[in-house]
Amino acid sequence: MTRTYLTTPIYYVTAKPHLGHAYTTIVGDALARWHRLLGEDVHFLTGTDEHGQKVQEYADAAGKSPQEFVDEIAPLYAEAWKKLNISNDDFIRTTEQRHKIGVAELLQRCYDAGDIELDVYKGKYCVPCEEYYTDDELDPGDLCKIHKRPVEYYEEENYFFRLSRFQQRLLDWYDAHPGAIQPEFRGNEALGLIRGGLRDFSVSRTSLKWGIPLPWDDKHVAYVWFDALANYITAVGFGSDNDEFGKWWPGVNLIGKDIIRHHCVYWPAMLMSAGLEPAAGYAVGGWLLVGGEKLSKTSGNVVNPLDLVDDIGLDGFRYYVLAETAYGQDGDFTYEGLIGRYNSDLANNLGNLLSRVATVVGKKCDGVGPAPRQDSPLAAAAAAALAGATEGWAAYQPSKALDATWQLIRATNAYLETNEPWKTEPGPEVDAVMGDALEALRIVAVLASPALPDTCQIVWERLGLSGQVSDQRVPVNAAWGGYPGGTAVVKGDPLFPRR
Ligand code: ME8
Ligand code: MG
Repeated sequence: MTRTYLTTPIYYVTAKPHLGHAYTTIVGDALARWHRLLGEDVHFLTGTDEHGQKVQEYADAAGKSPQEFVDEIAPLYAEAWKKLNISNDDFIRTTEQRHKIGVAELLQRCYDAGDIELDVYKGKYCVPCEEYYTDDELDPGDLCKIHKRPVEYYEEENYFFRLSRFQQRLLDWYDAHPGAIQPEFRGNEALGLIRGGLRDFSVSRTSLKWGIPLPWDDKHVAYVWFDALANYITAVGFGSDNDEFGKWWPGVNLIGKDIIRHHCVYWPAMLMSAGLEPAAGYAVGGWLLVGGEKLSKTSGNVVNPLDLVDDIGLDGFRYYVLAETAYGQDGDFTYEGLIGRYNSDLANNLGNLLSRVATVVGKKCDGVGPAPRQDSPLAAAAAAALAGATEGWAAYQPSKALDATWQLIRATNAYLETNEPWKTEPGPEVDAVMGDALEALRIVAVLASPALPDTCQIVWERLGLSGQVSDQRVPVNAAWGGYPGGTAVVKGDPLFPRR
């Protein structure tokens, strides 16, 4: 059985879950659900990043110990993902024992390989980024370009990871793995960073206590990015359960464009040094902007995804997030856009299709769904939807997969409008049209289920089908002709009342 291991970034516990975190997590969830439909053995991981100076500072400010502080915030992420119907198989916290063991093992391997060495670090550090910067990477006045706040000056003995030794090995790896970074233009960004020359980076601090000690020198704690990146392997058993690790690694890392350097440059080099495979690939999303700015606590424009769910419904929110923005590009979040998508695609297209089909079957077919025709005029549209959805999900493009699926919904609505079964006397003609429409809806329920799991289960049941839509398999159960006919079709309340 094909195995698929998908991960989201682990989010900093210095902010509560916001729309930007929900975005990457929902994309990962929909992908995981798609791969389960394909019949693959899927492992989907998310979690929280809990060490580092930033966390220490937040805990200090709150008058709490760092452990108390992270113990309060981490559950907010787990709860948010439950409310958003995220189907993660695991949730890693970097303060867990399994993680600490694996990080120590990774550090030790890189040290034994001679790629970690003691040196003196003199330079500038942005705490919110948890990143070291050179002068030419900063704005005038030593301001971080992302956070627009002054960096700090450090001078201390640090261990360094000799990233500079990995330039050619990284270029060779990317050469041998074309398309490893999706979408392509984000890959070019990463290659540009590598070709531009690589600086060694500090992997330890002595002035900080809130972190994982280096196994060979416990005056130092590991740099938070070295610690955080390792989550993708420690969660599946690196250092603690090697059979499990061998089963899942390498996986695919879903990330935002803000962390390309860490994931596509540092991380594969760290793994190579430790004698491990780099990640199988990276799917890089753009930013969701509000009023043209990245969501962040600092700019005060954070949007709570749970408020949006209360307002528009869970699947309305999930659909908007997945369909509105091409993954990789920046997207602008607007409330008008959310309502507009909801009304056009969900209320007027999907919701209306189900409602008119159920109404006509109720009135003209005694509420019992007729079987579809093998040579239906809709069969080609259904095949195109299956092909387009398959291609879209494979390319980490939920918006394309959903657009292909919605083409079938539009084609079916148009088919009904052409045939006007509501004006025709009951009989074979109506039966033929309604059987086709029911079959199209069945296929839509399967194809849209990664995005709208609850809604598609409701559609499934209203068509009179038994079992779980999530237990269907693609392509076999999305091929034309699967609806048997003879089931009781239920009208029910509108799926998506208009706003
Ligand atoms: O960087 N639009 O954590 P983080 C889209 N702990 N995506 C967004 C977003 C926005 N406005 N804001 C955040 C960290 N994201 C590290 C990661 S991984 C080993 C360690 C998403 O809490 C996006 O996926 O700052 C981004 O990369 C991630 O959240 C950063 O989350
Ligand atoms: Mg961030």
